[in-house]
Amino acid sequence: MTSPTLTSERFIEQYGRFFGGQRIATIHNLGYLLVEAWGEGSYIFDAEGKRYLDFWNVGGVNSLGHRNPAVVAAMEEATRTQDYGSLFFFSEAKGRLAETLARTTPGRLEATLPAVTGSEAVDQSIKMARGTTGRTEILHGDHGYHGVTGFSLTMIGAADMREWAEPLIPDFRAVRYGDIESLREAISERTAAVLLEPMRTDYDGRAPDADYFPEVRRLCDEFGAKLIIDEVVTGMGRMGYMWGIDHWGVEPDMLITAKGLSGGMYPISAVVMRPEILDFWGANPYRNISSYAWSNIGAVVARTAIEETERLLSQANEMGNRLAAVLDDLAARYSGALRSVRRTGMLYALDFRDDPAGMLFMLGMFQRGVIVVGSSQNMAVPKLYPPLIIGDEQIAEFAEKAEDTLKTLG
Ligand SMILES: Cc1ncc(COP(=O)(O)O)c(C=O)c1O
Repeated sequence: MTSPTLTSERFIEQYGRFFGGQRIATIHNLGYLLVEAWGEGSYIFDAEGKRYLDFWNVGGVNSLGHRNPAVVAAMEEATRTQDYGSLFFFSEAKGRLAETLARTTPGRLEATLPAVTGSEAVDQSIKMARGTTGRTEILHGDHGYHGVTGFSLTMIGAADMREWAEPLIPDFRAVRYGDIESLREAISERTAAVLLEPMRTDYDGRAPDADYFPEVRRLCDEFGAKLIIDEVVTGMGRMGYMWGIDHWGVEPDMLITAKGLSGGMYPISAVVMRPEILDFWGANPYRNISSYAWSNIGAVVARTAIEETERLLSQANEMGNRLAAVLDDLAARYSGALRSVRRTGMLYALDFRDDPAGMLFMLGMFQRGVIVVGSSQNMAVPKLYPPLIIGDEQIAEFAEKAEDTLKTLG
């Protein structure tokens, strides 16, 4: 817990320059500087005790709510006997997490490659695709966000997050997301992998048509390319199923999970894949190492997070229906600003008339104590990632503050 006197102003004075003075000043000028003191359930609090209803949750990191009691208890218990462990060794905690991932992911996905962040897992999946196919071309959706490391950054849609770091990695090509013809024209015997999110979470929050992913799967099979699905945001119950791709009943070759897998408590990620892909490492198991990939404590936390997600899913979907009704009502009454709301599971995309309206909504909600974050490529469409634990009280609070904010947008 931070000192109860650590206000935003004092934080800037005392620590601001250590995070880049100008950078902190810009965040402050935007009116978006929050110095967190503690978190609990659907809320985070600043040092002055101001409460924020968190409908962002870092895109799902805190999907189970802040300091979820089951996750905290499992982590506390684990720290009695466990520490990080070693990347070279195995443990019951790691075994049980891998088994749980295999049980919950689609079809034949079974073998796990441990990692720490979403970006790292995305990079690993691309290396695996290139290594196992002997091909180099990677096709990915346009306007995507898959992270900020080498391979993942190469696929990023937002030019200002990429251009200053160029040149990036060759043989990546964007296809129009959701448009099967665009993929059909691009895919060939040169294609190592097609990498897609079940929905473009950083852009329009629009899920592709029912026949899109089955056809993507078919094309990958026809040309011998690996299908990689990035579930960093859409997985762990976010789209109403355990994994977003379950909506289409499609089995990818590799599935990437991070964010919600952490239970909001311990950074951890994984690439879960068909067993024959990981056999590529059979003769040399150390083809890739990562010091922090799957600590023993993290493995206990992540397994608990999966089990909690399974337990909460149907209740969350019911609450999600109630929130959807509230949002549709607001969109009908304030259609000048909020044109429509798209919803899949517990992921909502608010379609504002333009970028400034989306931005003003986000800032207005922040001032009123609700965290909503716009995406780097589309400020007109903020997304909501409410925690899976919300109840009627949080929905009512959101509705009241959203209405207050919408009234100011004309
Ligand atoms: C869809 C998607 N993939 C990958 C990542 C990268 O994850 P991380 O920030 O843990 O590196 C993100 C991060 O927001 C993401 O939204």
